[in-house]
Amino acid sequence: MSATKDLKQDHLTLRRVRDITQRCSERLYSGENIPIEDIEIISVVIEEFVDAFHHGKEEKAYFPETKDKNGFAEDIRKFLIEHELGRRIATMLLRELKEWKDKREGRDNDSNSGSDDDINITSREPVARFLKSYAVFISDHTGKEDKFFDLIEEKGSISKEDEQMLMKHYESCKNDVGGSARIEQMLKLIDYLEDRDWMK
Ligand SMILES: [Fe+2]
Ligand SMILES: [Fe+2]
Repeated sequence: MSATKDLKQDHLTLRRVRDITQRCSERLYSGENIPIEDIEIISVVIEEFVDAFHHGKEEKAYFPETKDKNGFAEDIRKFLIEHELGRRIATMLLRELKEWKDKREGRDNDSNSGSDDDINITSREPVARFLKSYAVFISDHTGKEDKFFDLIEEKGSISKEDEQMLMKHYESCKNDVGGSARIEQMLKLIDYLEDRDWMK
């Protein structure tokens, strides 16, 4: 597989994460109960697979390699800014999730505090909102990058030697996030989420 195809392939997985995130947000907005633990899994997949692994490959290997070719620098600068936006959304999601959990635990320890429903309604909205923002981010960002990758392929901008170097660099990116075993686990978590009742 080429270094560009590898990233395009990841985008297919990212869009599965997008669909999960989107569906989860819709369900929360419509008042359904979704286990917090499932949303925590979404957050882990975002952090480890989407951000550390996929954006890691782009930031540490692919973009530095393509930056100086055919005037791609401006596109890449925008992609890096978008990665930061994605990170901000993910951080805010995690913070709201923690708040929701803290309230739930606080309630368990205090019989005078609000009911389950009160806590759920006020805590759910921000979580639903950031999940939705993240889904929009993935759609928008991978769409733009795919067009950029098509262009690179059309122009044949990456030499055979650079291809090999990039694939090696991807391997080290994979090791940075825990190696093949951890990536396998991430893919299993995505399967698991797709299989949850609220996804159907
Ligand atoms: Fe990206
Ligand atoms: Fe990407």
